[in-house]
Amino acid sequence: MRKFPENFWWGAATSGPQSEGRFNKKHANVFDYWYEVEPEEFYDHVGPDTASNFYHSYAEDIQLMKDINLNSVRTSIQWTRLIDDFETATVNPDGVRYYNAIIDEFIKQGITPVMALHHFDLPVELYHKYGGWESKHVVELFAKFAERCFELFGDRVKDWFTFNEPMVIVDGQYLYQFHYPKLIDGKKAVQVAYNLNLASAKAIQAFRKLDLPQKGARIGTVLNLTPSYPASDHEADIEAGRIADLWRNEMFLNVAVFGEFPAALVELLTKDKVIWESTEEELAILKANTIDVLGVNFYHPSRVKAPDISPNSTANWMPDRYYDSYDMPGRRMNVDKGWEIYPEALYDIAINIRDNYKNIDWFVSENGMGVSQEERFLNEEGVIDDDYRIDFITEHLEWLHKGIEEGSNCFGYHLWTPIDCWSWKNAYRNRYGFISNNIHTQIKTIKKSGHWIKEVSKNNGLK
Ligand code: BG6
Repeated sequence: MRKFPENFWWGAATSGPQSEGRFNKKHANVFDYWYEVEPEEFYDHVGPDTASNFYHSYAEDIQLMKDINLNSVRTSIQWTRLIDDFETATVNPDGVRYYNAIIDEFIKQGITPVMALHHFDLPVELYHKYGGWESKHVVELFAKFAERCFELFGDRVKDWFTFNEPMVIVDGQYLYQFHYPKLIDGKKAVQVAYNLNLASAKAIQAFRKLDLPQKGARIGTVLNLTPSYPASDHEADIEAGRIADLWRNEMFLNVAVFGEFPAALVELLTKDKVIWESTEEELAILKANTIDVLGVNFYHPSRVKAPDISPNSTANWMPDRYYDSYDMPGRRMNVDKGWEIYPEALYDIAINIRDNYKNIDWFVSENGMGVSQEERFLNEEGVIDDDYRIDFITEHLEWLHKGIEEGSNCFGYHLWTPIDCWSWKNAYRNRYGFISNNIHTQIKTIKKSGHWIKEVSKNNGLK
């Protein structure tokens, strides 16, 4: 039996925009809007309007989460639901009622509610009016929204996270065109990365001004840490891996934990004349407002090699002028999603945090396996036999367990996701949940993996 530490979090993660549905929201976020104007960009033309209907069915859905023994669940508060006036952070009464209701329901069921404040869901009008995360005014507005959340719900929510995967906002909106407004602009991407770090620090500053830390609450951020494995021991491949890590991981991780950007990154961006605009005062805010706790989303490793084309070629600045992705021959894949399966990386992450990041308290805030057309695996009882998911989770837990045994302070594991939910451009293409969702009837059914996690959680470990 592989036992996990006492009070280990066995749970799952979702987000407001992916589960609630758009019902009763006064404002649109970037995805609500993008679906209005370009529905063909979304898989099967399915948008976020209904999602998994959590706005209406939260009580039944939380009951299902309880039925499979999840003891903690992360979701997020939608800025576009809670706030009526972004400038003053005046609240929307139905938004307040709704978030109070779900928080109370989680607590009633003995499930720890874990709350994120931003899961890619920028109010679209803040993009159209100010340029969204390019603007430091938007950073201020986010801090106000965060403060409002702490005031309203901080008496019951003890585990707060400022952002989910800020790097994905940089990649999606400014580099690789998978979030609205689909720009390709390396210079803006750099400023946005800085501003997102600043927004997180300012939210943490607002949190610490209240008496929540004294009442046992803690705050962190959720980062998608994708360790870079160089294609070979050749110096050029190792250098490519180092720069990929600086950009993809350390640009957020170092600021979150140490309050500073890595010197090598600042040097590189300065040399390339794309460095962000910053002030001494802002840098002091970053330094003073680091995280208590870290969430790590891990799905797949990144393998990199030296770029085919010299970084000195004539081209607009992009970070990947310094590295190319490398398709390792013989790699194990989740072919549906196109992601490599490499559970050992979770051990490498655990040891990296132990040795290089103050051995900070952390948890696996997302891990999981997106599979298409899971109806293929329905058995005679109408249950999805997702043995592949059970194997995937087991292997990741085994490597995580090894990291914990060797002293890494990991206190939990959350699968993406409790109940199959809507996922951005991919809509309902890839299913990740312990519980399936028929999106036409909204009938939700526990999968084999859901019955399995129930036992793992009960035993606090793997047999
Ligand atoms: C994570 C995000 O990176 O990936 C989630 O935090 C997202 O919001 C998940 O849904 C899976 O993405 P996809 O596109 O494979 O469904």
